[in-house]
Amino acid sequence: MGHGCLSKGSVKIQEMGFRATSLNSSNPGNNAELIRRKKSQLFLTDDSESTFVELSTPRTGRLIRWKRGEIIGEGAYAKVYQCMNIETGELLAVKHFQLTDDPTKIQKDFTLMKKEVSLLKQLDHPNIVQYYQTDLSPEMNSLDVVIEYVPGGTLRHLIQKYGILEDNVIKTFARQLLKGLAYLHENNVIHRDLKSANILISTNGKLKLTDFGSSRKFEHSDLELTKSLRGSPYWMAPEVVLRRGHSYSADIWSLGCVLIEMASGRPPWSNYSKDAREVLKLIATNEMLPDFPKCENQLKNIIKQCIQRDPMRRPSAKDLLKLSYFHEKNPESIPEHSHIHRDISIHIIEEQAEE
Ligand SMILES: Nc1ncnc2c1ncn2[C@@H]1O[C@H](COP(=O)(O)OP(=O)(O)O)[C@@H](O)[C@H]1O
Ligand SMILES: [Mg+2]
Repeated sequence: MGHGCLSKGSVKIQEMGFRATSLNSSNPGNNAELIRRKKSQLFLTDDSESTFVELSTPRTGRLIRWKRGEIIGEGAYAKVYQCMNIETGELLAVKHFQLTDDPTKIQKDFTLMKKEVSLLKQLDHPNIVQYYQTDLSPEMNSLDVVIEYVPGGTLRHLIQKYGILEDNVIKTFARQLLKGLAYLHENNVIHRDLKSANILISTNGKLKLTDFGSSRKFEHSDLELTKSLRGSPYWMAPEVVLRRGHSYSADIWSLGCVLIEMASGRPPWSNYSKDAREVLKLIATNEMLPDFPKCENQLKNIIKQCIQRDPMRRPSAKDLLKLSYFHEKNPESIPEHSHIHRDISIHIIEEQAEE
């Protein structure tokens, strides 16, 4: 069952005086105690803007009591389980992170998770997986992030199972993907690991972005480009591979890669090589572009705009959404004369019935 968040008072603040250097102690028992202290210092009294405990208060203000079910996914950093809110019966998902006991990695682990949780907590959009709460285990060796359960699985799975998607399905998925991405970018968040395995599809075709573990928030004081290499090769933008620093436009390249995947049934570059290092080399090669799929012209043009090696030339998510390709057909605005078609179809059905 979910532990509920540790309250700030449950681990004593006096531990703040602990020094990281003392972790070199040769006594293993002593070491364990020191690691525990290090963790409590990080999780409970971290002196940045908000401590982990403050961050992990439930979004709704009311602690969810939950019970863990079966495993539904596993990524690079976490195992994901289905769980049930035992008070309401609602199904949820929980992302379970095992925290390291390696003193040199605790800080990194902590920073990674704090980043993901603090970002998730701020985000509220129909195309972004909804965050509920974070529970730190009393021993501080694991962390459970409770999120919305999206029953359909990942877009990657859907494509593997059903192959190339129909034009209309690509259009509705692409539109929702762009809406989620535009929302992220408006909130100064770069996803940085956008790929079909981090896109969830619910049973009614609603799309949700997930996995903000690699995401980065651009602060006002941080308008410089970030320089880091994370993410998955097939969907990675050239400037990310080449470590030239990247920005929101790197997500637009990855979006183009997901569009290629939906229209061709496989990730870009995968027809050239299945080896990650080879793919990285291809992406890094000047002038090199992945093959564009055979699909309707408007979609092909959009892919070409996203998959440009020069990040400055790529359109923003907001601009892409303005294209007529993404305009939603409003079911309320059926043209006046549409009853004629309806009459005709009734007529045909009647004729068939008479036969
Ligand atoms: N909210 C969710 N609902 C259903 N399945 C999920 C959910 N979140 C993640 N998953 C499954 O778990 C896998 C790993 O989750 P992800 O957040 O991408 O973790 P990681 O950071 O380890 O890559 C996903 O590919 C997906 O199959
Ligand atoms: Mg993932």
